[in-house]
Amino acid sequence: MKVLLIGSGGREHALAWKLAQSPLMTEFYAAPGNPGIAEHAILVPIGVDDQEGIIALCQEKAIDFVIVGPEAPLVAGLSDRLRAEGFLVFGPSQAAAQLEGSKGFTKDLCARYDIPTGAYGRFKDAVSAKDYVQRQGAPIVIKADGLAAGKGVTVAMSMDEALAAIDDCFDGAFGSAGAEVVVEAFLDGEEASFFCLCDGKHALALATAQDHKRVGEGDTGVNTGGMGAYSPAPVMTAEMVQRTMKEIIEPTIRGMAESGHPFSGVFFAGLMITAKGPELIEYNVRFGDPECQVLMMRLKSDLLPLLLACAKGTLDQYDAEWVDDPALTVVMASKGYPGAYEKNTPIDVLPEISAGEKVFHAGTAIRDGVLIATGGRVLNVTAIGSTVAQAKERAYALVDQVNWQNGFCRRDIGWRAVKREENEV
Ligand code: AMP
Ligand code: GLY
Repeated sequence: MKVLLIGSGGREHALAWKLAQSPLMTEFYAAPGNPGIAEHAILVPIGVDDQEGIIALCQEKAIDFVIVGPEAPLVAGLSDRLRAEGFLVFGPSQAAAQLEGSKGFTKDLCARYDIPTGAYGRFKDAVSAKDYVQRQGAPIVIKADGLAAGKGVTVAMSMDEALAAIDDCFDGAFGSAGAEVVVEAFLDGEEASFFCLCDGKHALALATAQDHKRVGEGDTGVNTGGMGAYSPAPVMTAEMVQRTMKEIIEPTIRGMAESGHPFSGVFFAGLMITAKGPELIEYNVRFGDPECQVLMMRLKSDLLPLLLACAKGTLDQYDAEWVDDPALTVVMASKGYPGAYEKNTPIDVLPEISAGEKVFHAGTAIRDGVLIATGGRVLNVTAIGSTVAQAKERAYALVDQVNWQNGFCRRDIGWRAVKREENEV
């Protein structure tokens, strides 16, 4: 099978590494890819938003199956264009990608199908949004409706903060993503991420993960795309997984099918496990980054047939097997991230790795034979262990071998799960 993978981050490196192990793979291309992905696939310098270029590539190489990694091309309708040209695609249609592209769309679906989530209001102007917030009181959550690269959410602990966040959205801090604002009740609990494949009708639960979104140790400081993650999430017991499937995923699948836009691809449900059980914070319509990296380390099954079954509508014939051992990944980022940072700094040494360890490339390039950091999040140093504590120790032992002057990472990834393990002994 000839496969094209779209994307260039750590998530796509993890997918590429796993996909390349499939006996079904005959030719493997990635656009635009990165130096890590280049170990597994032929890189083609076409951007993820270049729909014409991607279609031309698929035609030229007679690609059988396209796997779309990031959300932006999905929300922009890449899957629809490819399907119209007759290609099989892993990833939702533009209409189904609204589950990530519009928070208001998802909240309305939750309301119609009785999916547990925080009470909310949708607003197109500051006056009515502020009026609603004043009636609800703080803490309260203010969200730009559209895609804002993880930056459009303010968890406001005070009324002043909430009102300022509303002004920010309508003053254009998030561009057109903030033209509409969703105000949502504050949910109290422990967060977890849940991943589930879907072919429009059938669901196949994958695995759970927890990430660290804040830049600083102890989960402090500003939000980032994610500074590290581990899988599984201890809070996601078998009962919570079952309830999530029944109360959240299944009605979503039904709702999307009934609206005429069946969902195929991966659901990445951001959950808050509250006193009432799992509640939906948000949907993403692609794998998490860096959550995907820890999922791929734990997946025993061949990934390619699973993703293909999503595109073909045959997911009910498949199962996924997992390694029980936890996996943990530490994100190494450029100093200054998520703010401004220096680009093109050299990475002098990467660690020697053994089985159950992997350094995924997230934002790197090779220039004049030298590996350089080109992005904010640059490397995902990943390991498996018999406990989260052991996976953490292995991952940081690898981090300590990386010689990259301009890099930094959090030293406490997995702290909550490690603490839980300590309390269990
Ligand atoms: P999101 O970009 O929607 O994932 O939101 C970013 C972060 O804001 C989430 O990971 C949560 O930590 C927090 N958050 C979002 N919505 C809520 C909510 N309703 N209650 C509490 N925290 C929330
Ligand atoms: N790590 C969070 C995300 O991929 O959205």
